[in-house]
Amino acid sequence: MPDEAEISSVCAAIGEEGIGRVVAAFYRQIPNDDLLGPLYPPQDLAEAETRLREFLIFRFGGPEYYLHHRGHPRLRMRHAPFPISQSVRDRWVALMDRALAEAELPADTAAIMQAFLHHIATFLLNS
Ligand code: HEM
Repeated sequence: MPDEAEISSVCAAIGEEGIGRVVAAFYRQIPNDDLLGPLYPPQDLAEAETRLREFLIFRFGGPEYYLHHRGHPRLRMRHAPFPISQSVRDRWVALMDRALAEAELPADTAAIMQAFLHHIATFLLNS
């Protein structure tokens, strides 16, 4: 797991635009995914994309849009409605890895993001 200084340096390194490209590439895969597709709200996918983008911008050291729009993240509580087994977690991670590769970010920043996202995905296991 990267340290706090590394995590909060990501937004300065690649900008809100860089984070947005990763999140967009992740959400593009969701509608066609047999495991994850059914978990996400089909009419609300653009808003879901905004929620994840704003959370990551905040967590990676950028502006706090997420806190203003959604309040405290409480990620485990917000994921409680969705059964996250090891295979669901692994699929989420696989889609995110593909999104990171597609975004072609500087390798050191991509590695920090990847380690952070994998760690939180494991933390969210709940079934
Ligand atoms: C482990 C696999 C994961 C699954 C299956 C999953 C699934 C979901 C689903 C179905 C939603 C609801 C979509 C919406 O309407 O916003 C959601 C929301 C969200 N997820 Fe995940 N997620 C996972 C991992 C993560 C990780 C690793 C993070 C952060 C690093 C994350 C951050 C968020 C955020 C910020 C929201 C919006 C919460 C809100 O403000 O309501 N998720 N997730």
